[in-house]
Amino acid sequence: MRSSGAGWWLAMDGTLRRARLRRGTHAAAVADARRSVDRVQPSELARQPGRPTSAARTSLSRIMTALDTNLLGTVHGGVVMKLVDEVAGAVAQRHSGGSAVTASMDEMDFLEPVRVGDLVHAHAQVNWAGRTSMEVGVQVLSEPWNEAGVPRARVATAYLVFVAVDADGRPRVVPPVLPETEEDRRRFAEAGIRRTHRLARREAIRASRRADAAAT
Ligand SMILES: CC(C)(COP(=O)(O)OP(=O)(O)OC[C@H]1O[C@@H](n2cnc3c(N)ncnc32)[C@H](O)[C@@H]1OP(=O)(O)O)[C@@H](O)C(=O)NCCC(=O)NCCS
Repeated sequence: MRSSGAGWWLAMDGTLRRARLRRGTHAAAVADARRSVDRVQPSELARQPGRPTSAARTSLSRIMTALDTNLLGTVHGGVVMKLVDEVAGAVAQRHSGGSAVTASMDEMDFLEPVRVGDLVHAHAQVNWAGRTSMEVGVQVLSEPWNEAGVPRARVATAYLVFVAVDADGRPRVVPPVLPETEEDRRRFAEAGIRRTHRLARREAIRASRRADAAAT
C-alpha cells in the first residue's frame, strides 16, 4: 500500500504537475498543494494519456415511488446511496476504460428529506485520479417530478473512492484526470486533501491495532 499524499495538478500554464499535500488545515493544505509542486516524472506521464474531467462526467435521475420509502414516508437513505454508488461507478468505469470497484465511501450528510414523487438527480465526475484509484464526487439534487420551475433542493454530497481492477480483481493503472475549469481544479486539490486524511486515518487505525496486538 502506497501511503503518499501526492496528487496531480494541472498548472495554469497547462503542464501537469505533482502536488505534495502535507497535513494541516484544509485551507493550508489547498494552499500547500498549489505552492509546493514538483514536475511529474516522465515515466508516470508515459503510463497513459490524461482524460479531461468532462469526458466521464455523468448524471442519473430517478423518480421516487412508494417502494423507496421508510415507515415515516420519506425515502430510505440507502436508496439515495445506491443511486450515488451507481452513478459514481459509471463515471469510474468510463474514466478508467474498464471495471472499477467501490473501495470506500466517505461520510455522507443528508441535507433535505426526499419524498415520494421527487425526481432525484445524481451528478458525478472524477475529481482526482491516482495510480489505480479515483475519487468520484457526487451531488444529489431533487425537484417535484411533475412541476417545472421549482428550484432544485440540494439533498446530499458524497465522495467515493473507486479502484480500477483487471479481470483477476487486481488494481490496474488509470489515466490521469485533467481538470478543465477553476471548479475542477478546486475539486482536484480538495480531493488530494481528502485522500491524505483517508490514508492517514487508515494507517493510524492499523498502527493502533498492531500496538494492541503487541501488548497482549
Ligand atoms: C479496492 C481493492 C481492489 C483494493 O485492493 P488493494 O490490494 O487494497 O489495493 P492497494 O492497496 O494496492 O490500493 C489500490 C489503490 O486504492 C487505494 N485505496 C485502497 N483502499 C482504499 C480506501 N479504503 N480508501 C482510499 N483509497 C484506497 C490505494 O490508495 C491505491 O491507490 P493508488 O493506486 O491510486 O495510489 C480491494 O480492497 C477490493 O477488491 N475490495 C472490494 C471492493 C468491492 O467489492 N466493492 C464493492 C463492495 S460490495
